[in-house]
Amino acid sequence: MIQKNSSNISRSGTVKWQSPSNIALIKYWGKHGIQLPHNPSLSITLRESLTTTEIEYEVKQKTDGLSLEFFFEGKPAKDFETRVLNFLSKQLDRYPFLVQAHLKINSSNTFPHSSGIASSASAFSALAMCVLSISEAVTGNKKPEQDFYQDASELGRLGSGSASRSVYGDYVVWGVHPDYPQYSDNYAVAVATSIDPIFNNYHDAILIVSEEKKKTGSSAGHALMERHPFAKARYEQANWNLALMHRVLETGDLDQFIEIVENEALSLHGLMMSSNPGYLLMEHHTMLIIEKIRNFRSETKIPVCFTLDAGPNVHLLYPYQYRQQVLQLINSELLPLCDNNRWIDDGIGNGPVQIS
Ligand code: DP6
Repeated sequence: MIQKNSSNISRSGTVKWQSPSNIALIKYWGKHGIQLPHNPSLSITLRESLTTTEIEYEVKQKTDGLSLEFFFEGKPAKDFETRVLNFLSKQLDRYPFLVQAHLKINSSNTFPHSSGIASSASAFSALAMCVLSISEAVTGNKKPEQDFYQDASELGRLGSGSASRSVYGDYVVWGVHPDYPQYSDNYAVAVATSIDPIFNNYHDAILIVSEEKKKTGSSAGHALMERHPFAKARYEQANWNLALMHRVLETGDLDQFIEIVENEALSLHGLMMSSNPGYLLMEHHTMLIIEKIRNFRSETKIPVCFTLDAGPNVHLLYPYQYRQQVLQLINSELLPLCDNNRWIDDGIGNGPVQIS
C-alpha cells in the first residue's frame, strides 16, 4: 500500500524517457520460460532510432485495479494499449503501486512507424524506464543507479527480450555464457571487455527495403525454435560466436568482426527458412544489397558489412573513418534498391535519456 502525506512521495505527476532501439550482432532467437533466452546475444545500441514515452500517472486512493490509456503519436492505439495493460498487469507483485494507478501513456518514434524498424526494443525499454521512475516517485525509495538500470532492463525484457539491451549504451550483452559469470538471462549488462577504438564510433546505415508489416512476427519465429531440428547447434553457435566477438572487440580485428556479424545474420534467416513451416523474410532487394556490400568490400578493401534483423531491411555497419566512401556507395548503388530511397543514418549511441 502506498503511504500518504509524506513529503518525498508524490501521488501524481509526469515522467518522460527517450530510449533507443538496438541492432543485435549476435542474435537472440529462441526463448523459454518467462521471456528467457536460449542463448546470449550482443547488440549495438542505436543513436537515432528512438522512442519517447511520457506517462502521466495518478495513484488513486482506492485499490480498484490498474487502468491505462495509450496514445501513439497523439492517437489512441488500442492494440498497444492491450499489450501494455497485459504486460503491466503481470508486474503487480514487483510494482504494487500499479494496482492503484491510472496511467496516460503517450509514445512516439523518431523513425517512421512504417519503416519496418523493430520498435519493441525502444518502446518497452522507454516504458520500463518510466515505470521505474514512477515507482521511485510514488514510494519515495530511490534506488542506486546501477539497480535502477538493472531493474529497468529486467522489466523491459519481460515486455520484449531485445528491450533488455536498450537500457544501456554501446555494446550490450543479454544472456548467460560459461566464460562470463556476470552475464544473466534476467537482464542485460555492458559487454565485459575493453573495446578497441575502431568500434567506438561505429555507424549503421539502415537501408529500408520494405515498410510492410512482417508476415511472421518475432514471437512466432521464437516459438518455431522449440521444435527446430537445428536448435541445439544454433545455441552452441551463438555461444561460440559470442566468445569470439569478445576477442574481436578487444583486438579490433575487423576481418573477424565481419565474418561473425554476417554469419549471425545469415544464420538467423537460415533458421527461419529451415523451420517448420519455413518462411522467408529477405526480399529480392535485400539480396541485391548484400551482394553490392560484399562486392564493394572486396573491390575497395573497406571493411563494411551487413546485418539483418527479423525482416528484409539491411543494416550496413562501418567504421566512421570510411563515411565518405560509404555515403557514395549508398547514394549511387544502394538507395535505388530501397523503398522510396529511404534509409536511416544511424550509429552507436549512449542509451536512454530522462527528459522529465
Ligand atoms: C531477430 O525481442 O522482438 O531482432 O522477446 O518476442 O519480443 P520478443 O522478441 P524480440 O526478438 C528480437 C529478435 C531479433 C534478434 C535480436 O534482437 O537479438
